[in-house]
Amino acid sequence: MSVVDDVKAKIDILDVIGQYVTLKKAGRNWKALCPFHNEKTPSFVVYPDEGRWYCFGACHTGGDVFTFLMKKENIDFGEALRRLAQRAGVELVRTTPGEDVERARLREILATASAHYHYLLKNHPAAQHAREYLAKRFVTPDTAARFQLGYALDEWEAMKSFLVGKGFSVRDIEAAGLVIARESGGGHYDRFRGRLMFPIRDRNGHVIGFGARTLTDDEPKYLNSPQTPLFDKSATLYGLDLAKEAIRQQNLAVIVEGYMDVIGAHQAGFCNVVASLGTALTEKQLGLLKHLTKRYAFALDPDAAGEAATLRGLEMAREALARKTVPVPLGAGLIGFEERLAAELFVIPLPAGKDPDELIHDDPEQWRALTAQPEPLVDFFFRTFTQDLNLQNARDKSLAVQRLAPIIREIGDEVKRTHYTQKLARLVQVPESTIAQQIAQPKSKIVIRSDEDMARVTPPPASKREEYFLTLALHTPEHLARVNFLEPEDFANGETRAFYLALREFAESADLFDRDAFRAILPEALHSLYERLNDAERALPDLKEPELAREIQVTARRLRAERDKAELTRLELLLREQDETRDPLEEQQLHQRVAFLLKRIAENQKALGARMGARPYAF
Ligand code: UTP
Ligand code: MN
Repeated sequence: MSVVDDVKAKIDILDVIGQYVTLKKAGRNWKALCPFHNEKTPSFVVYPDEGRWYCFGACHTGGDVFTFLMKKENIDFGEALRRLAQRAGVELVRTTPGEDVERARLREILATASAHYHYLLKNHPAAQHAREYLAKRFVTPDTAARFQLGYALDEWEAMKSFLVGKGFSVRDIEAAGLVIARESGGGHYDRFRGRLMFPIRDRNGHVIGFGARTLTDDEPKYLNSPQTPLFDKSATLYGLDLAKEAIRQQNLAVIVEGYMDVIGAHQAGFCNVVASLGTALTEKQLGLLKHLTKRYAFALDPDAAGEAATLRGLEMAREALARKTVPVPLGAGLIGFEERLAAELFVIPLPAGKDPDELIHDDPEQWRALTAQPEPLVDFFFRTFTQDLNLQNARDKSLAVQRLAPIIREIGDEVKRTHYTQKLARLVQVPESTIAQQIAQPKSKIVIRSDEDMARVTPPPASKREEYFLTLALHTPEHLARVNFLEPEDFANGETRAFYLALREFAESADLFDRDAFRAILPEALHSLYERLNDAERALPDLKEPELAREIQVTARRLRAERDKAELTRLELLLREQDETRDPLEEQQLHQRVAFLLKRIAENQKALGARMGARPYAF
């Protein structure tokens, strides 16, 4: 058992959380007013059996006892572990000098690798297409040097041999995330092959990992280093080492999504730009910035924002906004977050369809203007939540108030709250007192009006990934046994679900998988899907073992993750509705399902994370 599991087993999550809030028993679980945002009715639930908590209100996030303490005390994982271990009477082996030596060695490996990748990019004939690609993206050699961009040769053991030649052990090279052990016990191979390399550095400029971009249209577009003792994706901001001075001087950190956006911005002289690493921004990441500035601006594609705003229902819009577009922490609990951090959050609305890299290249002056006057988050909500309304019309006025009042209500600062109350009153042209009243009395019930609303909440069927999974499964049905955790319910789409069932049953019953025999037993309704998968199979890249086995497992886990997240979202909306008529037993059952899903999501996430540097969920 790991120390973490040991601590978890010895600590009672109710004891810890109970120190901060008053917990009331509700069936097998406990409820409280959420300690992370202001509320009048409890939407914070603790699931003692699963050791997890979840806030169904504005935070819309959850975790275990560690994340609770980290958020509540604003401390990092190590500190939370120390405190809880002490409480549990579990002895922590102190970081020994040995571990420092190990970290130093990993650091040296990564620095050596990065310098070599960079050398290859500049000099190797095989890197010609990488150099051409950078030129096509307008990246100058100077910029490539500043970011130490590199190239990984398209060979199975090039980096391994190079580093072994420098005297490093394969074990350490593996720990640094640069090689992967073959499953069949046949040694190790390079993780990054034939890709453009972006070294990821900590704020002091030490390389701690890599992002590796395909130069073809291989998937994934970016392959990232796995979690290592040095690299924690959720605690890293790309470009921070080069941005910190400018962020301090300009008292503004601009947060974009992509490596290329950071590079384009810095090349054009906009140096206060950093990127989250393809995940929702975490508090840890903002923690890296808080000593430099408290003003954070998110570059945002307005298409996505508009799409979010036209979704009916405030909660849904904010949720979509939080999840998809603004890389924000704590889901929709933006305003509360802003206040807890004493931060000011802004949006930089980008022209439609352009990412920062393109905009900066096409029109640097526009970028300069946009970042000089970023739009305060609440103003941004005002704009996007009313853009589909006609404010001359009574019904739309009422809608505008319904959507914006909950946001204004969350603002703790009275002057600011009054400012926005007035703004809303002017917008819909009704007396300020009427608006103030609406803001004071939360009617925060979200109403799911119809199946149509329900359908909006449910992500569209993931049939692309579902079909990809089935393509792989059809290609090598013998791997199906390894992913037998996957249930038919993990498929959103009726056809793919039926196909999976048929495929699994056939593979189990037959000693030898005969393709024609399988095709023969398929019901007519699945024939066109079969043909589609058959075609897709021919277009599969030439995957070999163990990649093929790994790919099928990762795909299965992602399918599972998609289903679980979708179901959790549905349950959340149901449970957030304050329904006096609901049978308490039914409510209890819904909560048990939530607890089950939270646990399964965490497990799945762990498995995915262990397999490859997969994108973690927002909680
Ligand atoms: P983008 O696809 O916007 O990347 O993903 P980009 O950096 O702008 O790249 P170009 O312009 O297409 O070349 C944003 C970020 O999400 C992460 C990376 O950190 C990327 O920079 N990401 C994206 C991944 O980690 N894996 C992926 O497969 C895709
Ligand atoms: Mn881009």
